[in-house]
Amino acid sequence: MRRPMVAGNWKMHGTRASVAELLEGLSDQSLPDSVEVAVFPPLLFIDRVVEGLQNGKIAVGAQNCAVQAEQGALTGETASSQLVDAGCSLVLVGHSERRQVIGEGEQQLIEKFRAAQAAGLTPVLCIGETLEEREAGQTLNIVGSQLGSVIAALGIEAFTHAVIAYEPVWAIGTGLTATPQQAQDVHAAIRAQLTAADAKVAQAVRLLYGGSVKAANAAELFGMPDIDGGLIGGASLNADDFGAICRAAGN
Ligand code: PGA
Repeated sequence: MRRPMVAGNWKMHGTRASVAELLEGLSDQSLPDSVEVAVFPPLLFIDRVVEGLQNGKIAVGAQNCAVQAEQGALTGETASSQLVDAGCSLVLVGHSERRQVIGEGEQQLIEKFRAAQAAGLTPVLCIGETLEEREAGQTLNIVGSQLGSVIAALGIEAFTHAVIAYEPVWAIGTGLTATPQQAQDVHAAIRAQLTAADAKVAQAVRLLYGGSVKAANAAELFGMPDIDGGLIGGASLNADDFGAICRAAGN
């Protein structure tokens, strides 16, 4: 049995005041023990989020890490080892906003994935197609090649300590959600690709769905056999909504 995970990606949101409020709201939530819950605050707030979530029920991750695992001369970047030191256990790698807006390439994200694991972080590899690619019938090719390049570079064993998030780019922050069946179809293809490399790893790895997940649609998505939880953007900024999504994953 895979333990479901619900991860909140706060993106570039928050002020000291709103983060304090969100932390207070999160500490009021009753969260199911059966679900691994994590939040990914902006780097600026990681310290106070780690401190504010002292009861240990919610893990903390970073939204990005440097291509090298150890601290050094790399202006503006943060090493995975520094994230570990700050109390992080996870890091997002290859979010579509970083691929598309920042221009992060495949080689870079492979290096980040490797650096994260070298320092002891669990990478959450984000993959997904654009609307144009979906409409051209390219979804499985695109997602397969995004995953395939990491498997080719780092080996299937790298997925023993990793999470994969399928996030169709057209569903991120748009209010459009993949239907449970659309998401399940892609998740099943991802699991089949992993199975072809190593069935045991494939059975154990968590596949999260992301893209306009809300309290209202979470249960239906999480009910699909290959959807092991969610990566939540907008709805993770509201403690009650996020709590409800976590509870949906526990049912
Ligand atoms: P969203 O974002 O839930 O706001 O669509 C998801 C994500 O980008 O991780």
